[in-house]
Amino acid sequence: MLSGRLALVTGGGRGIGREVCKLFAREGARVAVADLDQDATRETLKEMGGEDNHFGVEADVASLDSIKNTSSEVFKKFGEHPSIVVNSAGITRDGYLLKMSEPNFDQVINVNLKGTFNVNQTFAAAMKSAKINPGSIINVASISGQVGNAGQTNYSASKAGVIGFTRSAAKELGKFGIRVNCIAPGFIQTPMTDTIPDHIKQMLLFQIPMGDFGKPEDIAEVAVFLASDRSRYMTGSILSVNGGLY
Ligand SMILES: NC(=O)c1ccc[n+]([C@@H]2O[C@H](COP(=O)([O-])OP(=O)(O)OC[C@H]3O[C@@H](n4cnc5c(N)ncnc54)[C@H](O)[C@@H]3O)[C@@H](O)[C@H]2O)c1
Repeated sequence: MLSGRLALVTGGGRGIGREVCKLFAREGARVAVADLDQDATRETLKEMGGEDNHFGVEADVASLDSIKNTSSEVFKKFGEHPSIVVNSAGITRDGYLLKMSEPNFDQVINVNLKGTFNVNQTFAAAMKSAKINPGSIINVASISGQVGNAGQTNYSASKAGVIGFTRSAAKELGKFGIRVNCIAPGFIQTPMTDTIPDHIKQMLLFQIPMGDFGKPEDIAEVAVFLASDRSRYMTGSILSVNGGLY
């Protein structure tokens, strides 16, 4: 479904981002794996196979300069800009509001929300100037940004921000043939959720109508749909992938 396309995936080193890279590659895309963690990026590239078609590149989504550099490196490698961008890089620094430190609030906003600005602005500008049409940008929000979650005021605020950001960017970029959509995952089994204590996981399971946690592959399938022309008339959409939890 993605042959001939060049995709960039932030947070591609692990978890959801890694599965998106692997499925995009299987669907025929060339993939730039962009992550802070270079060891993780190398592992993703190894799992993808066909290393000549793909590229690992350092990226700190919290820094606009770093993302501009990422964009230049990708252009140098492939001689073109990506027509698909998935922004999966994200962090948690959980804690109850009354105990949350200011750095933990700021870090989460800087990576998850400001990072969304840095990545969307840089790559939408590249798509527009190279007259790439169609272009597809996929942001990753969270159920926490839709319904809230105790212990995650910082994370929920950042992800609710990603949803509002996506809706507004879609309204601005539609006329250039650039679609901007969002996936809001529920609880997905990745290194990010591995740290949740077992008794809390059991409580969560009872609340999920489908009776199971999601897998990174469940998100990757939806990302392929949003990246491909099968969703050509969709922009500004928030797709919930959460087993019925919300
Ligand atoms: N796992 C879940 O249940 C879940 C649920 C809802 C939303 N999400 C969101 O999905 C996305 C992926 O989550 P995951 O579970 O795969 O997490 P993960 O921790 O397994 O992977 C996140 C990746 O992002 C990278 N990263 C972190 N900070 C970065 C930065 N500043 N610049 C570039 N890369 C950076 C990490 O190195 C890592 O490879 C995140 O945005 C997360 O908030 C996850």
